[in-house]
Amino acid sequence: MLRLQRPLPEGYVTSTPEDLARRIAAAKEALATRLMILGHHYQRDEVMRWAHCRGDSFGLSRLAARSEAEFVVFCGVHFMAESADVLTSAEQKVILPDLNAGCSMADMADLESVEEAWDSIAEVTDIEAVVPVTYMNSSAALKAFVGRHGGAVCTSSNARAVVTWALQQRGRGDVKVLFFPDQHLGRNTAFQLGYEADSMAVWDPRSALGGLDDMTVKEARFLLWKGHCSVHQRFRPEHVHAFRDAHPGGTVIVHPECSHDVVALADEVGSTDHIIAAVDRAPAGSTIAVATEIHLVQRLGAEHPELTIVSLDPLICPCSTMFRIDAAHLCWVLEELVAGRVVNQISVDDEVAEWARVALQRMLDIT
Ligand code: 13P
Ligand code: SF4
Repeated sequence: MLRLQRPLPEGYVTSTPEDLARRIAAAKEALATRLMILGHHYQRDEVMRWAHCRGDSFGLSRLAARSEAEFVVFCGVHFMAESADVLTSAEQKVILPDLNAGCSMADMADLESVEEAWDSIAEVTDIEAVVPVTYMNSSAALKAFVGRHGGAVCTSSNARAVVTWALQQRGRGDVKVLFFPDQHLGRNTAFQLGYEADSMAVWDPRSALGGLDDMTVKEARFLLWKGHCSVHQRFRPEHVHAFRDAHPGGTVIVHPECSHDVVALADEVGSTDHIIAAVDRAPAGSTIAVATEIHLVQRLGAEHPELTIVSLDPLICPCSTMFRIDAAHLCWVLEELVAGRVVNQISVDDEVAEWARVALQRMLDIT
């Protein structure tokens, strides 16, 4: 989604990395406790080095909820900053250094198509028995939809707990989960809970009734939105086989946004925090292939000289929207704050925020 970031003033574009580092340090010091910089694990090193706290989407949302800083500068993508705004007080301001840092997966489900899907499902099955679950990687408007309809948000670190909770809602045994926007996280979670492939159907928002027949919609336990992450969908079973051939004792750790055929071949699956913890535990001398965004993989390699860490896909895959946040944009938003100007504030409409908070709070309460 185009969010029209205005070009940076000349001085930022032409500054050297050293000059930007010096200016960011000075602005950070001037803002002191008024400022909290949060950094998602996929951020570049030139940005991540300034973060007060690092985390996965779940950890960062919890940190935002607990923060008392006047300014929360979110080095991540738009849906994360929106969630931070929903979870912080009205006096706090959440800032995204580049407004074009979106998420292509989040853009695969918009409110209009989810409402259409909801109405279509209601025509063929008991909608009271459908619980919507949205992945954190979605707009605040979708989180609000979920909040209004008795569902919850999940992240890659708590999808299992949230889906288990969803299946226990409505006080009956035949609950159906409408999971969006990532079909892979939804499928991987359903398999983890012991469900078979025939209990899941993919909902294609571009086709009438999701491209399904009435009976399939009625009988499916999981309706999985046809969305995906273009970074994680690149990992293929062939990559796992090639790595295992080259490193018979090696370990494969993957993010649950990867397709199920890759997850099924992996040794470990989990969120970015989980991946970091698994690497931290690995004995010296281990060779590990990681299937997630390349900046995290490279950082793990640099932080663990005692291990050999490679990307599972040798043709590395950066997240182009996470990559939009750079030292120049960070420097600009911080210097504007020092000058008393708030730029790039992410502000969710009050009514949307109220219901999105319900869905986010359910997640925080479940986990
Ligand atoms: P995590 O919650 O694992 O940090 O994942 C966020 C994300 O966008 C992965 O693509
Ligand atoms: Fe979105 Fe994928 Fe980038 Fe994560 S890695 S922010 S899901 S595009």
